[in-house]
Amino acid sequence: MKIAMVGSGYVGLVSGACFADFGHEVVCIDKDETKIQRLLHGMMPIYEPGLAELVESNVAARRLSFTTDLAEGIAGAQAIFIAVGTPSRRGDGHADLSYVYAVAQEVGEHLSNDAVIVTKSTVPVGTGDEVERILRECNPGHRFSVVSNPEFLREGAAIGDFKRPDRIVIGAEDDFGRSVMREVYRPLFLNESPILFVSRRSSELTKYAANAFLAVKITFINEMADLCEKVGGNVQDVARGIGLDNRIGSKFLHAGPGYGGSCFPKDTLALLKTAEDYDSPVRIVEAVVKVNDARKRAMGRKVVDALGGAEEARGKRVAMLGLTFKPNTDDMRDSPSIAIAQTLADAGVTVAAYDPEGMEQAQPLMPQVDMKQDPYAAIEGADAIVLVTEWDAFRALDLGRIKAIAKAPVLVDLRNVYKPEHLREAGFTYLSVGRGT
Ligand code: UGA
Repeated sequence: MKIAMVGSGYVGLVSGACFADFGHEVVCIDKDETKIQRLLHGMMPIYEPGLAELVESNVAARRLSFTTDLAEGIAGAQAIFIAVGTPSRRGDGHADLSYVYAVAQEVGEHLSNDAVIVTKSTVPVGTGDEVERILRECNPGHRFSVVSNPEFLREGAAIGDFKRPDRIVIGAEDDFGRSVMREVYRPLFLNESPILFVSRRSSELTKYAANAFLAVKITFINEMADLCEKVGGNVQDVARGIGLDNRIGSKFLHAGPGYGGSCFPKDTLALLKTAEDYDSPVRIVEAVVKVNDARKRAMGRKVVDALGGAEEARGKRVAMLGLTFKPNTDDMRDSPSIAIAQTLADAGVTVAAYDPEGMEQAQPLMPQVDMKQDPYAAIEGADAIVLVTEWDAFRALDLGRIKAIAKAPVLVDLRNVYKPEHLREAGFTYLSVGRGT
């Protein structure tokens, strides 16, 4: 089967490479000439474990190709995926659908055979209807069906998530759409990943509901962590105690500095806008957005407190370990590190940082921060260390070396990577999240 993937960003590139790996013939299309040229030379626009190898082997097998020419790319494709960005619209938080609609228009103008047009981008309820209207207005001389097929992959684990999904959600309104999508995902039937066929609107809403629910879960445990610090409890024990109840589930109960990334912050806001448009408030998500925003700055203040408070902190030095919003990515979008670095700068604290992949992306977002080539260079002379992102590289730091080179052995561990007893035995002043005892 021939598949066209319009948009070669995170979702488009990973999905395209995985579909090719399943044996489909895939053409990835992008307007960005440089990106396509780089991909043709095996250079990835993003850091994602395993992606470069997957792209390389499927290009070599002639199942995966790249082009900037949409008309050529979609010719003969039975499924045309739209996987372009839907960023937050400046000013109002609505999802910006201009890229999605521009692709729909171009596809409509160049459709040269019967095809299913699939929105993989995260799009608000009703977008599929509008895509269908645009296509119809272009009057393509061929049969088409518009389907919603949201993606649930996580950055850093994208290939595994795509190939072994918990479920596949397909929102289709007719048999043509359903039968083509069944063919697209046939290789996954073997993995017994459940495929849910629902209406297009239900499918669109499912994507937002899933991300919002996960954001609620994280924010809930973060507030429990704060409470644990006050009452002298341990949030990891509480999380385990509730997570073993299957109705709750143990995942996404890691307390930390607040969620970031390209999805949760943007998608929760867009869901609130949809709720507002339909006059059906989702108050729990309203609260989550506010609490999470405030939390990122509060984490900066926690470091200032560890330095002895506002008066004492001025002129001191902090080493920040980890800048990306989570490990195994170079993505800095809405990372808690940005708010933490800002809070520290406002308090007159100088910051040196190290991140295995994110420093290039981070530097323009925090020009005041001195980027170092390894964790110890950042730690040298520091009055405190703050561990922001739980990269594996920070799980077994050389504590003896740190004590020798840091000005003071103070560690603020915002991901609960270390055991409090262990660090205290090693002579550290150790603060973490929600482990008051
Ligand atoms: C998220 C969803 O998990 C994916 O299912 C979805 O497909 C994706 O958004 C999307 O809409 O494209 P992602 O943003 O890559 O994936 O990252 P997550 O692993 O979900 O982490 C998001 C944030 O929550 C990170 O800042 C992470 O550190 C934080 N988090 C996650 C916690 O603080 N605690 C947890 O227990 C889990």
